[in-house]
Amino acid sequence: MKILGVNETSHDASMSLIDDSGNILFAGHAERYSKIKNDWYTNENLSYDLHNYGHPDAIAYYEKPYLKRLRLLFGGYADWKPTVKYDKAFEHHYSHAAAGYYTSSFDNAAIVVLDAIGEFTTSSVWIGKGSDIKLHKKWSYPFSFGLFYSAFTSLIGLKPNEEEYIMMGMAAYGDPDIYRDKVSEYFPSVYKQKYNLHKGIHDWNQDITENDKFHIAAAVQSVYEDRLWDFMYIVRQELDSPNLVFMGGCALNSKANTILWDIFPDIWIMPNPGDAGSSLGAAAAMYGKHLNWQGPYLGYDLGGEYPVDKIFDEIMTNKIAAVATGRAEYGPRALGNRSILADPRDPSIKDKVNKIKKREEFRPFAPVIMEEYASEWFDMDYTSPYMQYTPRCLKPELIPSVVHQDGTSRVQTVNKKQHPGLYKLLEMFYNETGVPILLNTSLNIKGQPLLNDEKDIVEWEKAYGQKIIR
Ligand SMILES: [Fe+2]
Repeated sequence: MKILGVNETSHDASMSLIDDSGNILFAGHAERYSKIKNDWYTNENLSYDLHNYGHPDAIAYYEKPYLKRLRLLFGGYADWKPTVKYDKAFEHHYSHAAAGYYTSSFDNAAIVVLDAIGEFTTSSVWIGKGSDIKLHKKWSYPFSFGLFYSAFTSLIGLKPNEEEYIMMGMAAYGDPDIYRDKVSEYFPSVYKQKYNLHKGIHDWNQDITENDKFHIAAAVQSVYEDRLWDFMYIVRQELDSPNLVFMGGCALNSKANTILWDIFPDIWIMPNPGDAGSSLGAAAAMYGKHLNWQGPYLGYDLGGEYPVDKIFDEIMTNKIAAVATGRAEYGPRALGNRSILADPRDPSIKDKVNKIKKREEFRPFAPVIMEEYASEWFDMDYTSPYMQYTPRCLKPELIPSVVHQDGTSRVQTVNKKQHPGLYKLLEMFYNETGVPILLNTSLNIKGQPLLNDEKDIVEWEKAYGQKIIR
């Protein structure tokens, strides 16, 4: 028996396939196949690729379509159509909770789901015990952590539901105190907001200069972190578990995630915590127990061994290497299989990579580090295999290209089991330079999703006049 999980008709459609031993056979994003960023709908190529791994016997859908329809009518949004016929639909937040808890190694945990909105639920807390996930508490539309963040994303001229990560990066360049009080009015205490933020901030009444955008971003990030802290602290007090599973689009805020280590001794955030991860969540919900989680390399397979020697030579000669090999990452981050890897010691590397990527320069690049050296280079006593936390860098002068304006880095830790090839590469770089770290950023054509298949490689090489190692 194989279960197909589907997420579509909102942003970031995806499909996942699991078998009856809990193995994740495939998990892929629609956007990687269609090249439409944050694509709302699944497509034929994604579906064909999934069928290489078997044929589903049952289909699980990631939310309750009719409940959502009701909320869309209630909110004044008309257009909506599900394209999938499914056997069972799970609540939006339950799919998030299942994606998180059933991929974790915990047999008991507090599960927190925070996003913009599901059907009606926007925030929920669940208790995971053994194979059971039970609701503890939930909050409904319009109160929402995600809608608060998205409303300000839109206020400063970015695209809501898509460019929140840019605002998070901008926050490091602003002074949070300038607009802190004003932003606080919209989210004055942990469960309270000024009004329905779904349609944005409509009473700001002040011109916003280019500089203000950075100060507003800093204030929003700061208020968000304070409310998140309060919310999580209460969860820790109420539920008798040292383990946190955090899911929903809000769990993509790596800067805010970092403070949660002061509340919970152990944390699991599935590498695809937003809606794109909910196809796996729906399948897991139908399966009803823990999956056999082996890592996020679950998408399209380019085949081949990890080309360690070729990448190493390229980095030692030209300092930058573009890599596409093996299975694509399931989740928003390139974690080595669709990556640009570079020497982090050279301060000019940041500009060179920015030039290749044709992107805004305030966005930081991430370091990938051998797990055993993480606490020596960064202020962390935990692992971060999927770039979900931003600890302070302890030796910024040695790796200037992977340290953000505020002195932090969005770290990816790697051990031998997680990715033997990438680990070996880091080891070789360490033996040569004494630095167990490389710069790691996503391999994509500007404005497009991560590279996926052979066709994309050809297109990228043509566009950038550079060879991809595979
Ligand atoms: Fe969601």
